[in-house]
Amino acid sequence: MQYLVTGGSGFIGSNIVRTLLTRGENVRVLDNFSTGKRENIYSLLDNPNLQLIEGDLRSFHIVRNAVKDVDYILHQGALPSVPRSINDPITTNDVNILGTLNILEAAREMGIKRVVYASSSSVYGNSEKLPKTEDMPISPLSPYALSKYTAERYCQLYSQLYGLETVCIRYFNVFGPYQDPTSQYSAVIPKFIRLIAAGERPVIFGDGLQSRDFTFVANNVEANLLAAKAPGIGGDVFNIACGERYTLLDLVDLINKIMGTNIEPIFAESRAGDVKHSMAGIDKAKRLMGYTANTKFEAGLRQTVAFFCPKASV
Ligand SMILES: NC(=O)c1ccc[n+]([C@@H]2O[C@H](COP(=O)([O-])OP(=O)(O)OC[C@H]3O[C@@H](n4cnc5c(N)ncnc54)[C@H](O)[C@@H]3O)[C@@H](O)[C@H]2O)c1
Repeated sequence: MQYLVTGGSGFIGSNIVRTLLTRGENVRVLDNFSTGKRENIYSLLDNPNLQLIEGDLRSFHIVRNAVKDVDYILHQGALPSVPRSINDPITTNDVNILGTLNILEAAREMGIKRVVYASSSSVYGNSEKLPKTEDMPISPLSPYALSKYTAERYCQLYSQLYGLETVCIRYFNVFGPYQDPTSQYSAVIPKFIRLIAAGERPVIFGDGLQSRDFTFVANNVEANLLAAKAPGIGGDVFNIACGERYTLLDLVDLINKIMGTNIEPIFAESRAGDVKHSMAGIDKAKRLMGYTANTKFEAGLRQTVAFFCPKASV
């Protein structure tokens, strides 16, 4: 089978590419390296089953070429940060919405088997109700969240109007190898691992009791592959996570335990707009896609620490 992975040099995309190549599939990557890194897929580039197209999702012409002769599209390419979208809503809108529309339109034209779209738990907004299930009201609170939701609706519209099979999977706080620890928009886990490894104290905004459904990236990779093939789920939306939640204090404790360190966090004032707790209901994905979160939080964190600091992990 020929897969197109958009954003294939990014964190989640490069993990998908690696797994697909290991399984002997043919993979094409479309990426403009704006937030993704060449190094993430550098070691894979001499694999004859991998083809790299450097190009922008915002160009229909480029997208159309990338989609040619593809069976499945795993659409990860996006500008993935909430603060970035607040600073620059127009670019987020262009990449995340127009980029997705280009993918859908090219997929419709080329008769692609299925488009899997990487959506986000941010579409649920600030609701305190847990677990978050797919039938809950949608309340995007940032240009990023709104762009992810709008692109979801485009996916569903293309299924309804044109019969193109699309499946939207909403990720919750993904972590693992190849996640960028250095950007100002970096997620908390790679950032904390890096700081603790350097003997520095990570900053927690608030009391540290805020909790998240931290999900090891291998679970998201598996979910993409299931979403591409599971029968009868075209046009639908699924949460993908572990269905468990851990606080930031748990996270710091566990990193210290794994690395054999004893670094205390620094507490700063909580940030406006941060959700206190988040946890996914994953029953629908279990039932209709056969999804299970095979790698739990601690096992995933051990693999992540081993990736970022091979000498520190015990
Ligand atoms: N990481 C998470 O916790 C998380 C949570 C929810 C949803 N998501 C979604 O998962 C997907 C992957 O996120 P990630 O964490 O791997 O982020 P990432 O930034 O590492 O990956 C995004 C990739 O898209 C590429 N890209 C950006 N703009 C592009 C453009 N105009 N043309 C071509 N390529 C472009 C980037 O270069 C990068 O390789 C995104 O769609 C994101 O919204 C991620």
